[in-house]
Amino acid sequence: MTQKKRALTGIRATGQLHLGNYLGAIREALRLQQEYECLYFIADLHSLTTNRNPEALREQSLDIAASWIAFGLDTDHHLLYRQSDLPQVTELAWYLSCVTGMGYLQKAHSYKDAVAQEKEVNHGVFSYPVLMAADILLYEPDLVPVGKDQKQHVEMSRNMAGSFNAAYGKEVLKIPEPKINEEVMTIPGLDGRKMSKSYDNTIPLFAPEKVMRKKVMSLTTDSTPLEAPKELDGSGVGDLFVHFASAEEYRDLKDRLAAGGLGWGHAKDELFQAIIRELQEPAKRYRELRGDEEQLRAVLRSGGERAHAIGQKVLAEVRTTVGIPAHPFS
Ligand code: TRP
Repeated sequence: MTQKKRALTGIRATGQLHLGNYLGAIREALRLQQEYECLYFIADLHSLTTNRNPEALREQSLDIAASWIAFGLDTDHHLLYRQSDLPQVTELAWYLSCVTGMGYLQKAHSYKDAVAQEKEVNHGVFSYPVLMAADILLYEPDLVPVGKDQKQHVEMSRNMAGSFNAAYGKEVLKIPEPKINEEVMTIPGLDGRKMSKSYDNTIPLFAPEKVMRKKVMSLTTDSTPLEAPKELDGSGVGDLFVHFASAEEYRDLKDRLAAGGLGWGHAKDELFQAIIRELQEPAKRYRELRGDEEQLRAVLRSGGERAHAIGQKVLAEVRTTVGIPAHPFS
């Protein structure tokens, strides 16, 4: 059997997952499972640049793990792990730091944005792309699926691999390909702006159905009277419905709205039904998984152990390349 190609991505643990996360990242990343061996990890070390709440970080990490499994990440055949379980990554970050220019890192959007918005710019924020490059290069992936906002970081990791290889005149680090999810561009939130935690306009993924329904019904729509014809395309309802309905269902609702006599309230109810249809089972699995932390930890441990075996080999080669014993004390 030929070795499957490898896909890798990191997931930052940030509060409650919402529909935008699901459509923009999770659903796409999970589709890669047939074709790739997937290494998906919880980027808890990266969260530390902003998160100073240990209890929240611990809980959110487990929430994320349970969510991905609930949506169908097959952890028998793919790896789900916690970034911090493999401290080799911070070691590799150091070797990369030593071949990466300050001026180059100053060009990172994440750093520039933090400066522009007068946020706390700690060294972790500045070296964020180096840790991310280590996350990637340690496991030699072929493909790194990310959202548009992370595209530059993946490109920086390619450059850091190139710099390292050039500095030592040896092809040690494998250069990965980014895969930008263009298909799902921006998922609209309840107020029509991009769905984002910072706008407080999200639809949470695993909220009780009553809460979910209330949220969906609060979606902003225009005040066209009930009898008037309405356009589904380009409306907040339409832009969400398209991701949950079949082409036929979409067309059907579009036609009925265009004919007049159907209110937005009705359309929102159909949207709600379509969302629930897709999320009901995962939500149930999520609650089961989240109720058994031992089991969840066992899954993360097994993923981490398998990731460790991959990373160890790469790190040993990097160490010998720079002139350090392959393993400590050897
Ligand atoms: N920086 C990514 C984000 O904020 C998360 C991440 C960390 C990541 N390490 C990674 C993504 C490695 C892809 C590959 O979403």
